[in-house]
Amino acid sequence: MALDTAMVNDLESYWLPFTANRAFKAAPKMFVSADGMYYRTPEGRAVLDAVSGLWCSNAGHNNPRIVAAIQKQAATLDYAPQFQLAHPAAFELSNRLIDLAPKGFSHVFYCNSGSEADDSALKIALAYHRARGEGTRTRLIGRERGYHGVGFGGISVGGMVNNRKSFGMLIPGVDHIRHTHDLARQQWSRGMPEEGAEFADDLERLVALHDASTIACVMVEPVPGSTGVLPPPKGYLQRLRQICDKHGILLIFDEVITGFGRLGSNFAAQHFGVTPDIITIAKGMTNACVPMGGVIAREGIFDAIAGAAAPGGIELFHGYTYSGHPLACAAALATLDVYKDEGLFARCAEMAPYFEDRLHSLRGTPHVEDIRNIGLMGARQLTPRADAPGARAMEVFHRCFDKGVLVRVTGDTVAMSPPFIVERGQIDQLVETLREVIGGVS
Ligand SMILES: Cc1ncc(COP(=O)(O)O)c(C=O)c1O
Repeated sequence: MALDTAMVNDLESYWLPFTANRAFKAAPKMFVSADGMYYRTPEGRAVLDAVSGLWCSNAGHNNPRIVAAIQKQAATLDYAPQFQLAHPAAFELSNRLIDLAPKGFSHVFYCNSGSEADDSALKIALAYHRARGEGTRTRLIGRERGYHGVGFGGISVGGMVNNRKSFGMLIPGVDHIRHTHDLARQQWSRGMPEEGAEFADDLERLVALHDASTIACVMVEPVPGSTGVLPPPKGYLQRLRQICDKHGILLIFDEVITGFGRLGSNFAAQHFGVTPDIITIAKGMTNACVPMGGVIAREGIFDAIAGAAAPGGIELFHGYTYSGHPLACAAALATLDVYKDEGLFARCAEMAPYFEDRLHSLRGTPHVEDIRNIGLMGARQLTPRADAPGARAMEVFHRCFDKGVLVRVTGDTVAMSPPFIVERGQIDQLVETLREVIGGVS
């Protein structure tokens, strides 16, 4: 691809995240603008965004109301520190988030990304137990195939080998329950698989091994996204909740992807009817227009931590320069208005059955060994090439891009999560492009 050299004259210095940098720079892919469902490349080609950027632009791109809110805020209050100070929009936003959360949540802590949200949540869980006099509860439990960002807490509790193996000993005192994917029993499930609720009992194994008195929390994504869209088996999350309750373990839902309508409800917690103790959020919180993340804690968590603090003193020694950034708050408030006024969560729920039907029409396409979906999240798992795991899906990604469709690849799975403004015809375009591309790769 010919790049505009006046615009980009040296590709070397930028070290791209989660990217094969050398391959990228040999054949760069770039976007220079976006609108609604489409990105535009430097040479003016439109690319259908079938992944909401990175599971985050839920309302589509460059929504005029969100753009205007950010512009106005930038010209009014560009920055305000949040340590012993604040600004009104941060309070307005926390109240709005509590209204969206399941009943019984009371406090919102702000940060700037999903990774920070997850590490903040783990710290809050530890501080909570300590404040209540249960300071032996320090063990953090995650799940295989979990993705909780890239902070040391997140990669320790997360369960993705490539994200962990280069970074030493990670955080000590972490363990993992098994993942919920079982191809033999769950293949071609539409939505939640019927089989596999008993995988939650793996938490009992860890309680038996470590003793509940050493365990602070369990962190899971209600629907793991980055490891290939794995809807929970029916009854699984309920069982996990029961086991946590039985042993006094906090349950943390990482809703960085599933929050803000991805399953058609405000949060996955409401979709599945399972209420965790802590919810982490980011991505769709601001429609990804300004980085922002957060931790939403249920009633009692802040109070317990405050109860152990010196009278009038700081309750939690944790925070970020950009916590509650005015631009992020403005973007989030405008985003929540757009979601509400345009009925986008309901629209997601309305489009989900069509998305499901069209995705599953790809059953029988060469190399496709499973198709999974829930809400507007979908995945097509391909059989890996014997000598090169991941290569087939990566080729699909490149070819789809060349044909004007952006998908996401994780291992040998091709994932999709379109913005909620997606039209039926665009779902057709996505599915037919995939049918042609997957049929054409070796
Ligand atoms: C479930 C989940 N948690 C955390 C993160 C990390 O978010 P960020 O990249 O904003 O740090 C992601 C990102 O994809 C995610 O999918």
